[in-house]
Amino acid sequence: MNSLLGKTAVITGASSGIGKAIARRLAGEGSHVFIAGRGVERLQEVARTIEDAGGKASIGAFDLNDHGALQAFVAEAARRTGRLDIMVNAAGVHHPGTIADGRTSAWQAMFETNVIAMLVGSQAAIRAMRETASKGHIVTISSYAGEGNAYHVYGATKAAANSVCRALRQELADEPIRTVTIMPGAVATNFGRHFPPEFVNGMFKSVGISTEFKKGDVLSDTMLEALQSHASAIFASPDDIAGAVLYAVTQPHDLSVSEILVGPRKSFPNAA
Ligand SMILES: NC(=O)c1ccc[n+]([C@@H]2O[C@H](COP(=O)([O-])OP(=O)(O)OC[C@H]3O[C@@H](n4cnc5c(N)ncnc54)[C@H](OP(=O)(O)O)[C@@H]3O)[C@@H](O)[C@H]2O)c1
Repeated sequence: MNSLLGKTAVITGASSGIGKAIARRLAGEGSHVFIAGRGVERLQEVARTIEDAGGKASIGAFDLNDHGALQAFVAEAARRTGRLDIMVNAAGVHHPGTIADGRTSAWQAMFETNVIAMLVGSQAAIRAMRETASKGHIVTISSYAGEGNAYHVYGATKAAANSVCRALRQELADEPIRTVTIMPGAVATNFGRHFPPEFVNGMFKSVGISTEFKKGDVLSDTMLEALQSHASAIFASPDDIAGAVLYAVTQPHDLSVSEILVGPRKSFPNAA
């Protein structure tokens, strides 16, 4: 316990799913976590659970398309604590669908969040780590889909994220800043919020849970945990991914834990 005592971590996408589990895990190990997302009430709830468990959390509610807000949030974390040890780019979005029938706005949203915001967040973290002479880790939550298996336009954004991480790893090799890419398989989160309702409701129905999901809905943790426990062969839990992040950021600093593929033992049926 407390392997990260006194450290500072910024986590985007921390209002839900994988980012939330990472925030809780890093805070549980002693980090002051600066958690970002859009849903202010959900962020406050995450901060409350962290503080109730004796941890430290500060929140920032903004859209990652507001690059200035993201840069300011990262800088503020470093200014308030005098350091920045861990930056986790966990926010991401997936609009499923074929390229032939896709919408430009959906492609833009995916590239903006999954690639551009991840670049902006990583750059802000590098600057803060340099200014505070911190030994840091920049962790990006990519995906199995980034491995080049042609998974919708989303897969292209995650392949781009992987490529950015490889470039960063080279750029920073002579500095005390490591770059880590975590590529999860299917995880029971709100990631399906833009998926067709019949697909999401059918998935829950297949494990005996009745839902009335509509596009954009955010499901409760209780429902997601029930889905994961009924279908653990095809869904990992957010905390499984948090464990991989904790492993990567607690290794000796001269060691590069570059890429981790982590997921359930069976593959997930694709959404159309
Ligand atoms: N779940 C999976 O099966 C899976 C598999 C592989 C990789 N991943 C990756 O894991 C990461 C986390 O996803 P998740 O599964 O935890 O999904 P999730 O439950 O939907 O969480 C996504 C998070 O990203 C935030 N976010 C999205 N767009 C944003 C924006 N424009 N501005 C600010 N915040 C934004 C959301 O904030 P709000 O909710 O506050 O809007 C939320 O906190 C993503 O990068 C995803 O690509 C997920």
